[in-house]
Amino acid sequence: MTIECLDECKWVLNTQKTTYAFGLGVDEMLTHLYWGPRLSFSSDIPEPLRTFHASFNNMRDMANLEYPSQSGMAYHEVCLKARLHDGSRDVILNYDSYSIGDVEIREEKCPKLTVILKDPHYSLTVHLHYIVYEKYDLIERYSEIINTGSELIQLDQAFSAAFYVPEGFPYRLTTISGGWAAEYTLNQEMLVPGKKVIESRRGATSHNSHPWFALDHGNSQECSGDVWFGALRWSGNWKMSFEHTPRNQIRILAGLNNYDFTWGLLPKNPLITPSVILGFTSQGFGQASRNLHHFQEDLILPKKHNKKLRKILYNSWEATYFDVNLENQTSLAEKAASIGVELFVMDDGWFGQRNTDMAGLGDWYVNTQKFPEGLDPLINKVNELGMDFGLWVEPEMVNPDSDLYRAHPEWVFQFPNREITRARHQLNLNLAKPEVKDFVFHMVDDLLNKYNIKFIKWDWNKSISEPGWPDVPKEHQQEVMVHYIKNLYDIFSKLRVSHPNVVFETCSGGGGRIDMGILSFTDQAWISDNTNPYDRLFIQEGYSHIYCPKSMVCWVTDAGDDNLFSLKYRFYSSMMGTLGIGANLNNYTEKQLKIAKKHIKRYKEIRPLIQEGEMYRLLSPRAGNVSAVQYMNVEKTEGVVFIFLQSSKFPENRFRLIFQGLNPESQYKISKISQKLSGRLLMSLGALITLDGHFKSELLKVTQIE
Ligand code: DGJ
Repeated sequence: MTIECLDECKWVLNTQKTTYAFGLGVDEMLTHLYWGPRLSFSSDIPEPLRTFHASFNNMRDMANLEYPSQSGMAYHEVCLKARLHDGSRDVILNYDSYSIGDVEIREEKCPKLTVILKDPHYSLTVHLHYIVYEKYDLIERYSEIINTGSELIQLDQAFSAAFYVPEGFPYRLTTISGGWAAEYTLNQEMLVPGKKVIESRRGATSHNSHPWFALDHGNSQECSGDVWFGALRWSGNWKMSFEHTPRNQIRILAGLNNYDFTWGLLPKNPLITPSVILGFTSQGFGQASRNLHHFQEDLILPKKHNKKLRKILYNSWEATYFDVNLENQTSLAEKAASIGVELFVMDDGWFGQRNTDMAGLGDWYVNTQKFPEGLDPLINKVNELGMDFGLWVEPEMVNPDSDLYRAHPEWVFQFPNREITRARHQLNLNLAKPEVKDFVFHMVDDLLNKYNIKFIKWDWNKSISEPGWPDVPKEHQQEVMVHYIKNLYDIFSKLRVSHPNVVFETCSGGGGRIDMGILSFTDQAWISDNTNPYDRLFIQEGYSHIYCPKSMVCWVTDAGDDNLFSLKYRFYSSMMGTLGIGANLNNYTEKQLKIAKKHIKRYKEIRPLIQEGEMYRLLSPRAGNVSAVQYMNVEKTEGVVFIFLQSSKFPENRFRLIFQGLNPESQYKISKISQKLSGRLLMSLGALITLDGHFKSELLKVTQIE
């Protein structure tokens, strides 16, 4: 059974290889019991804690509650904090009832459990929802907080879920941090008593910290060891806390950030929290990533395009910056088509008075000095060249020097009597306002109706500051960050319905707004403005821990020293996800164009393996001088390996490459290796590889011999 209720007080959620269980503990409190490898006997499920000693201890503080609230002697982090209508701030959530059913997700029926908790006195109810994705070994949790009375309840904290890893072990936490042009750095630290918090307060996911975690005992590897992991489906302010309690429990909370947040919970108008996706594997960090990748490819990425290969794109940004015009874009498009590009994207600079970053955002009409007859001549040309046309927009922003701002200064976030902080000379529109939401939808909708645009790159380049929202009563003003993101999702949903064939790319100065929330509405992501091909190996590796290669856009550009990076190296670094070109092709020599064409042809041949196969991290760039990533089809018959050597330092330029994801009993031919070798050998001793020189790369083809 995927979901079952035992003895009317214990709920067990099984995926293929995992079990998650909770039940009623003392005082009918809903208590977490188990999360880990699948159990064959329900008698293995641990009993809830029932006794303790010392007057300073209390069950509300000691028990592993599934959804702890601020109440009694609970001193730890809680999911729910509320101010009730009579001023009480004590919320008791007692078990009430449960139901088991199905929810249809992409034609698949997924089992769903809902457990209802109720305050015994006040009109406050919480529904805890659990969806089980059996074959992905994942469960999704979110909560619905309902005011069943007639008076307002103020929520000061409303997390999605609390969950726990088996107690009594040491735990190492893996997180991802970074900054602009330095996204996706992996960090690992042992948890010690106290609390570790990761979060964003910027109004978006952020470059700085990522809503994902992995926990292990400190010794798990890429292909072995227990790993518990989770990620939020949310693109706004978020928070995760990892609390190592005095009793050696690890309590994890995830959801909406309580920073600058209060929710005025109106009667019969529930707050539905973002989901958190949770998984466990005993096969290391690599399997944890692949479970998330499969899930995203099948059930997260928008359905219309999730099973389609991503096109090789050209993007004009690093070639022409704001200086786009019909001539230079036509010339770039001709070159791009000649080397095999499938989608030509014109980036920033095509609209309003957008000659620098100081003006024009908000004025989404074509700049006729740059495009005297509008965009059609360029689009027609791009289409004649056999490519789709794509366009850059940043609809949630405005420059003060724009017609839009002059017409609607009240549309931007602001507090009375305060300057509004500018960054990149721009301000944030308040998307929580219905009129702004309408404007943004219609602006993009009109562009898509008017022109033959097949792709939108949707950018966001300033974190929210001074988030004032004077239009609503004070008790609702601090809801603004949540309404903002809900409205953003609504806009995307509507656009996807009215323009089903358009592909969307999420971008926020590179990787500032990437998460499983936005990836439910956008097909791919621009993950960093850092396009140095060596730096990218690190950024892409970090990204790959969470997100699937198909969603990861990587450009070959002119960044970095040409004496260091050959075109081959640049291409191999960018071929590990969805390939793009951002170099100034107008400056490419015939020879360079020829090399680029050859690599693009090669990428087209191996693209299904990269975008739809399984990814295995063989050697991490963080671990040494050599890095390698393997992609195999699911049948394990065909694959490729990208290898990168940083510098030819003896003896590290001769190394063992240990493969993964092969059939042990099959034999394989590896290009550049004369001997045929068994999967078993390749996955144990591996093969000896030599690379010479600095910043060298190689692409190996792996083929099973019939
Ligand atoms: C930031 C993006 O990350 C870049 O790729 C580019 O689109 C610029 N914005 C344009 O302003």
